[in-house]
Amino acid sequence: MKNKIIISILIQIIIASAVYSSESNCLNCHSDFEDENGASQMITKDIHWQKGLGCEGCHGGDPELDDMDEVREVKGYQGIPDTKDIPAFCASCHADATYMHEHNPSLPTDQLDKYKTSVHGIQLLKEGDTKVANCISCHTVHQINSAELPHSSTHPQNIPGTCGKCHDDADYMKEYGIDTNILSDYTVSVHGYALLEKGDLGAPACNDCHGNHGAAPPGVSSLAAVCGTCHAIEAELFNDSPHKQAFEENDIPMCETCHSNHKILHPKDEWIGSKEPSLCIECHSLDDGTIGLETADAIAATLEKLIHAHSEAETTLSEAKEKGMMTTEEEFLLKEVEQSLIQTRTRLHSFNKDSVEPKAVVGIEKANLVRTNSAALIDEFYFRRIGLGIATLFITLLCIGLYLKIRNSEKEKS
Ligand code: HEC
Ligand code: HEC
Ligand code: HEC
Ligand code: HEC
Ligand code: HEC
Ligand code: HEC
Ligand code: HEC
Ligand code: HEC
Ligand code: HEC
Repeated sequence: MKNKIIISILIQIIIASAVYSSESNCLNCHSDFEDENGASQMITKDIHWQKGLGCEGCHGGDPELDDMDEVREVKGYQGIPDTKDIPAFCASCHADATYMHEHNPSLPTDQLDKYKTSVHGIQLLKEGDTKVANCISCHTVHQINSAELPHSSTHPQNIPGTCGKCHDDADYMKEYGIDTNILSDYTVSVHGYALLEKGDLGAPACNDCHGNHGAAPPGVSSLAAVCGTCHAIEAELFNDSPHKQAFEENDIPMCETCHSNHKILHPKDEWIGSKEPSLCIECHSLDDGTIGLETADAIAATLEKLIHAHSEAETTLSEAKEKGMMTTEEEFLLKEVEQSLIQTRTRLHSFNKDSVEPKAVVGIEKANLVRTNSAALIDEFYFRRIGLGIATLFITLLCIGLYLKIRNSEKEKS
């Protein structure tokens, strides 16, 4: 009994001392005086701390000392790095392939190299401009974590805010002559709405178009590539279209010209054609010697026919449905018409009527089928109703006849 107690006390002492030695005096002392924005309070959310890297991993010093003055005297104590030294400070580990491989082989080690090619990197490292983004402007400090975690400053849904800290601040950015409506434009765009309101992580945040570390404006030549990473079909059609070469030769940005870059809105059917508010008339006129507007009108007319056929089919089908007819097959077919409609709008990026028309024709044929089938169902409904009416009338007359007959025979008896 006594032995057991002694052993258990011994074990507890061993555990306690193990915990104690893994505990950090840096953390203990700093948490005595720092508030919630202090390193010691935030660090529990930081991946470095979570993976066992202490304060001394970045700052140097000896975590067993219990006096800051002594900490500062330790060889290798780094203190607070100057802003322009931060990239090298973080890269002392992150660009060390051997070191990083031991910890997490899947992490790239090219952040500093890429950063050096970005507008931010060039301005900080070559021009000494400390107002541009460095590693901790985007990653925070003492709260650094993987982009997969919802609280991380680099989580897709937090990126617009992280970049917007500077890019949305007109005062901060005034000396650069860069647009500062980017965040507000982005927020109302189809992409901003999808990412921030609907939580669709497939929609692009700033870094999907600009890159993470190489943050630069995507130039004219890479633009279709940027949008094309997600909108592959539109980009492919564009690349086979007459606009590909014409835009390149005239330095016209590919998708941005018609859709803008940050305030991308839901496209409208009226954007194509030869009248306001068509986009085509911004560059083409009827006498410019090209088939530009002729094509625009032809595509617009085809699209219009499909839209009209679709809407007639939809109205007739819903009438048949209201009358309680079986419409499963027609509903299914209408979905295919909607698919054609989407495909026709996409194919418009070939800017070639012969490429658009076949998709639309298939849709129009199916829409007409839905309409005639639904109309037949409606006829059937009325036919059945008239039939029912006649039958009811016949039965009523029969009943009256019977009643009169019985009454007559009763009268005769009496
Ligand atoms: C006994 C308490 C104590 C211990 C232990 C301690 N610190 Fe400090 N530390 C302080 C105080 C106090 C300051 C000064 C705060 C101020 O000036 O506002 C400070 C400042 C700092 C600073 C700011 C730069 C500087 O040099 O002033 C850093 C970085 C820092 N400590 C890191 C560490 C690290 C890393 C450890 C462990 C290896 C550590 N501290 C251990 C109390 C402590
Ligand atoms: C991943 C590296 C890293 C780790 C780990 C880290 N720090 Fe820091 N720390 C920095 C950098 C970089 C700065 C400079 C921030 C700046 O310039 O604004 C800094 C700044 C500080 C400062 C100055 C005031 C402030 O909050 O910006 C203190 C104090 C500090 N660290 C203490 C600590 C303590 C205590 C720990 C452990 C609990 C710790 N740090 C862990 C990188 C780190
Ligand atoms: C002492 C070495 C060291 C220093 C200095 C350092 N890191 Fe790290 N960092 C690591 C290690 C190791 C990991 C990987 C942890 C793991 O996944 O096991 C990591 C992970 C990260 C991650 C998460 C990667 C992911 O997606 O999982 C980010 C972001 C990061 N560090 C940014 C920074 C920044 C910014 C600085 C400078 C303020 C910095 N690091 C300084 C060693 C370091
Ligand atoms: C302009 C903002 C910005 C700057 C500056 C920046 N990062 Fe990043 N970083 C990001 C974003 C955004 C991600 C997340 C990418 C993703 O979605 O996976 C990232 C990811 C990382 C990762 C995870 C691995 C990877 O490459 O995806 C590490 C490590 C990292 N950054 C370190 C650094 C270091 C070190 C610096 C400074 C040399 C730095 N970052 C500068 C925005 C930035
Ligand atoms: C700490 C503030 C800050 C943060 C955070 C920041 N930037 Fe910047 N950025 C700047 C400044 C300042 C410039 C202007 C540099 C110059 O032109 O000299 C700039 C320039 C740029 C440019 C080049 C613009 C041009 O036409 O030259 C792009 C693109 C850019 N930033 C994208 C981003 C993205 C994307 C993010 C987030 C992932 C981001 N920035 C985060 C401050 C910041
Ligand atoms: C869908 C892709 C896309 C998204 C998302 C995006 N951008 Fe852009 N951004 C562009 C394009 C394209 C340009 C124009 C480049 C050109 O004209 O060379 C641009 C230009 C810029 C410029 C330079 C503006 C100027 O006046 O010179 C900055 C800064 C910038 N973007 C920052 C951001 C920020 C911050 C976010 C997030 C809030 C963001 N971008 C989201 C595609 C995008
Ligand atoms: C990271 C992937 C991604 C990138 C890059 C991207 N988009 Fe998108 N885009 C989407 C997603 C996802 C949607 C659908 C949003 C929704 O749910 O409405 C969308 C929607 C759109 C729409 C609206 C479609 C509609 O029917 O309403 C247009 C137009 C558009 N994007 C154009 C562009 C342009 C132009 C670029 C390049 C400057 C671009 N996109 C870059 C993913 C992307
Ligand atoms: C930003 C300017 C611009 C816009 C907007 C534009 N185009 Fe063009 N388009 C051009 C240029 C430049 C050419 C090459 C003209 C040439 O070959 O002389 C061209 C060529 C064409 C051609 C080939 C002409 C031929 O004769 O071979 C067609 C078809 C065309 N565009 C259709 C359209 C349609 C449809 C729209 C609207 C959806 C449109 N374009 C919007 C600039 C534009
Ligand atoms: C010459 C102008 C023009 C150019 C260049 C252009 N588009 Fe469009 N785009 C349109 C028009 C017009 C519509 C509207 C279709 C409709 O709703 O009837 C549209 C519709 C869209 C849609 C929604 C329909 C669909 O396809 O799902 C997306 C997404 C889109 N464009 C992406 C792109 C991308 C990506 C690029 C670059 C590769 C690009 N666009 C280049 C004119 C253009």
